Amino acid sequence: MDVLYRCALKRFLFLFPPDGVHAVFTAVGEFAGRIRGARKLFTAAYGYSGPDISKTVDGITYRTPVLLSAGFDPDGRLTRILPSLGFGGEEIGSVTAHPCKGNLRPHLTRLARNKSIVVYKGLRNRGVDALISKLSRTPRIPGFVIGISIARTNSPEAGTDSQSGITDYIESFKKLNEAEVGDYYTLNISCPNAFTGETFATPENLAKLLSHIRQVSCTKPIYLKMPINIPWEQFEKLLDIAIKNDIQGVVIGNLNKNYADLKHPEDAPRDFRGGLSGVPCRALSTEIIRKTREKYGKRFTIIGVGGIFTPEDAMEKFAAGADLVQLISGMIFEGPGLIKAICERYSRQKP
Ligand SMILES: Cc1cc2nc3c(=O)[nH]c(=O)nc-3n(C[C@H](O)[C@H](O)[C@H](O)COP(=O)(O)O)c2cc1C
Repeated sequence: MDVLYRCALKRFLFLFPPDGVHAVFTAVGEFAGRIRGARKLFTAAYGYSGPDISKTVDGITYRTPVLLSAGFDPDGRLTRILPSLGFGGEEIGSVTAHPCKGNLRPHLTRLARNKSIVVYKGLRNRGVDALISKLSRTPRIPGFVIGISIARTNSPEAGTDSQSGITDYIESFKKLNEAEVGDYYTLNISCPNAFTGETFATPENLAKLLSHIRQVSCTKPIYLKMPINIPWEQFEKLLDIAIKNDIQGVVIGNLNKNYADLKHPEDAPRDFRGGLSGVPCRALSTEIIRKTREKYGKRFTIIGVGGIFTPEDAMEKFAAGADLVQLISGMIFEGPGLIKAICERYSRQKP
């Protein structure tokens, strides 16, 4: 199936702008998810049916340890089809307190030779109320975990100072928590495409945000989506603040902002807008996962993400200390069979 994807379907799809392809895929996936026969077909082609590889992390059991990362399904439209592709869960979002159109297009630019996508979406999503309504109406597939990534509304009308940012995060968090939507929550503090920048990736502002978050009574795990371009000393400071505020885990990490990490930097758009996904994230994120596990032991759940294109890449993340892995770009470049291949490899060599 993957040879077919790489040799035929991908070549065809890559003729079209990625924003449009993504919209069509989401619509098709949402539609297919509603039809039992379609789900069965996808499961027959892509589902994992090998030995039990379920894993319980922070009290949540994942059928497989491979998740779809935040950003591919910001509005929670794919929850019924993703289990058929071998995913044990997904991180929906990032969702914001208010609907958000995102940045000027193009939101996505493929850098095929670099195996990377320039992401300049700027947190386009329908807002937390629409997400709660959507998820409440959609019957869940048993065993498929839903994490929800929360970010700050990316528009000047929602305010620009740190206090309005905190109010925005808290509004989404409280609403989701009260509606009991989502199995875990991730606070995305590291979106490189927000016009206010990464306000909460500084120790002072993160401490302020988390002191408000911890005042909300929540029984579900809370994670932080971490940046991968900051020095280790600053990363450690953020982790220390996370510990003080009872944060259970970290998703390592977000997009790479350093265009020098591209193998073919000449392919990048000239105005360099947006963070890089895929291969340019791989080594950086694995290194930070390793350091975090070495220094903090089992204190944090670690979700490893960035540049997973093969089962070996995923195993490298597990070996570095990840409890679970997430991906997006690998599925786009290598095909949806990648998830099953990772699960099969994991079943033979559980770390
Ligand atoms: C199209 C796209 C949109 C993304 N949007 C978000 C987002 O809204 N929130 C977030 O935390 N990360 C977002 N990301 C980052 C991914 O979750 C992930 O951290 C990054 O792409 C590295 O993984 P990959 O190499 O498997 O793509 C986005 C990535 C892509 C490709």
